[in-house]
Amino acid sequence: MSRAVRFGVALVLGLALLTYGASVWVQRRTREWFDKDLSSRAEAAVTATRRILASRWDRPDELGELLADLAHDERVLAAAACTKEATPLASSSEMPAQFSCQQLGPRLRPSADAPPSAWAAYKESAALPDGAVHVSAIPVVDAERALGFVVLLHDLSFVERREAEAQKFLLLAFAFLAAAASALTVVAARLSWRSWSDELRRFLKGGKERPEFQPILRDVRELVERIVEEKETDREGGAWNPARLKQALVRHLHGEKVVILANREPYIHERAASGEVQVLHPASGLVTALEPVMRACSGVWIAHGSGNADRQSADGQGRLKVPPGEESYLLRRVWLSPEEERGYYYGFSNEGLWPLCHIAHARPVFRSADFRHYEAVNQKFAEAVCEEVDSEDPIVLVQDYHFALAPRMIRERLPRSTVLMFWHIPWPNSERFGICPWRDDLLEGMLGASILGFHTQFHCNNFIETVDCYLESRIDREQSAVVQQGRSTLIRPYPISVEWPIRWLSDAPPAADCRAALLEELRLPPDALLGVGVDRLDYTKGVEERLLAVERLLERFPSFRGKFTFVQLAAPSRTAIPRYQQLNEAVESLAERINQRFGQGGYRPVILKRAHHEPPAVFRYYRAADLCYVSSLHDGMNLVAKEFVAARDDERGVLVLSQFTGAAREMTEALIVNPYDLDEASAALKTALEMSLAEQRERMRSMRTFVAEFNVYRWAGRMLADAARLRRRDRLTGRLSDHLSAAAVGG
Ligand code: F6P
Repeated sequence: MSRAVRFGVALVLGLALLTYGASVWVQRRTREWFDKDLSSRAEAAVTATRRILASRWDRPDELGELLADLAHDERVLAAAACTKEATPLASSSEMPAQFSCQQLGPRLRPSADAPPSAWAAYKESAALPDGAVHVSAIPVVDAERALGFVVLLHDLSFVERREAEAQKFLLLAFAFLAAAASALTVVAARLSWRSWSDELRRFLKGGKERPEFQPILRDVRELVERIVEEKETDREGGAWNPARLKQALVRHLHGEKVVILANREPYIHERAASGEVQVLHPASGLVTALEPVMRACSGVWIAHGSGNADRQSADGQGRLKVPPGEESYLLRRVWLSPEEERGYYYGFSNEGLWPLCHIAHARPVFRSADFRHYEAVNQKFAEAVCEEVDSEDPIVLVQDYHFALAPRMIRERLPRSTVLMFWHIPWPNSERFGICPWRDDLLEGMLGASILGFHTQFHCNNFIETVDCYLESRIDREQSAVVQQGRSTLIRPYPISVEWPIRWLSDAPPAADCRAALLEELRLPPDALLGVGVDRLDYTKGVEERLLAVERLLERFPSFRGKFTFVQLAAPSRTAIPRYQQLNEAVESLAERINQRFGQGGYRPVILKRAHHEPPAVFRYYRAADLCYVSSLHDGMNLVAKEFVAARDDERGVLVLSQFTGAAREMTEALIVNPYDLDEASAALKTALEMSLAEQRERMRSMRTFVAEFNVYRWAGRMLADAARLRRRDRLTGRLSDHLSAAAVGG
């Protein structure tokens, strides 16, 4: 039922109820009026004839004639006279038994010998079988002597007739009024809708803006912008790719330079033991995602120069063109002292914020000295940003938890900059975040950004809730923004992804060849079943749980013993931190234990490769494996899952994915597991290893279609488009306030 119909029905029902109530009220009131009227008439008739009545009181025949005269009135049914002892004297016609002298006598006088002053007229209405009647009994007093009383019985049926007529009239009047009111409302609504929509139409054609249209116009504009954006997406050839991202940058941001601030650099120069300098691609989800974006956009990437041969491969300001051999953007390295690196990177970032944001049961460690380094290093990087920009309103993309304070520092130096901050790890709930002694500084720092991005809406909600708990600010839930001192930060989900097609596949041999070569290299038979895990050696990745699931698989399903091998590529990470050292040892001894338990002859179920692997090597494993198990205990997105899917152009292989990754929300065709539940995880490994090729193809095809469409160019494109929209608005608002202040000065 539509709202209008519901409103109409409610209106009619309401009116009907009102009419009924009114008619009952009117009926009561008219009955009261008539009763009063008849009583007064009866009293008047008796008073007027009192003398004659008294004179004939002792002559019943004459009294009867007088009563017959009184009853002549068409509404008087009968008249009777009774003695003061209540015995009948005379009557015009027969009186109903309930109104006999005996019945009425005691109602007029308290006792038979009561003085005349104690007598009072009595009246009553009653329903008789022939209709309603009104009876009045009026005392007849002569010279201070009570003679008796006269009874007059009035017909009330005419009152009922009048009441029915009045009710009918009332109903008709109400019906007429209801119809008239409805018709008037409809006409008024139509007229005002027409004038409102005419106004809106006129305005949309470029007319004068009226304040009441502001909210709807904002919605309309946003909708139009979104539709135009989608349309342009189609026109430009659908899929997001580097060319498309470049075009979007030119169109939306007029080709302005993009400055990225990230701790990790995309290329690390390391001197090997041989003395030769190598260029390494770090094992980092952030680099995997952003490097292709920078190739497409050009600009500057500002990062910590962490390689031992970094200085010698850069100029005096730490600058060099990258990627090596295809130079398309600038890498600006910032140098940190060992103390700074210890306090800012190992200390506050990775012993404090990292465990704080991940639910992986590691206790965060907060040291004041670390935070001081963190602050100083954020300042150092913010200054580097200011050195690299070429305008007063640059676009700066600040990456990750290493730089929570930088957005505000950049804004203080460059108030008109557009700062986008992307948080690559989960954001915890407010209670958990609240344990950080510098929580307010971090939140204030982040809110220096114009747009703050997380992988999922869930993390956006957590962030908003955290700000709501700890800061003086206004939460604009409609816009999903935090407003502080009139400046707002939009909080948006941008699920990160990988490039498509992925660069590392261009020279890769067919998947079947990769598999054959790799099995041979690992000294495994051609029919071996191969599982792979690829991670930085980090406790959030659930590497121990993964190996335990492999152990459980072999325990529960002995047919896989001797057949299934799991290769874990584990890039050493943050090795200066004790928790990472413990993990390193735990993983090694676990692998050893499983190999001892289930190994036989040359067969080792777990192959642990603790080393940095360059992307082409990693992709060989992805392409050769029957399954890839991503078992993170908590992960913002996890790009290994997307890389595995991107690597499988043969549409084979099964992804077993932890439900605690952001990726699990998008890649629902994977086998989703709880990595803590070893029975479930080992059953999923079995299912993966036994899955038919047709089902593998179906699942893989669907995931590939998703990743192809929602690739990293789209991720960056959407963020930059939002930034462009914001810049347009800020410029317009700026222009407006310029006009206003000019007008104020002029006026
Ligand atoms: O995925 C989170 C993340 O911090 C990335 O942002 C980072 O590149 C990656 O982990 C690797 O960490 P690190 O830079 O400390 O080696």
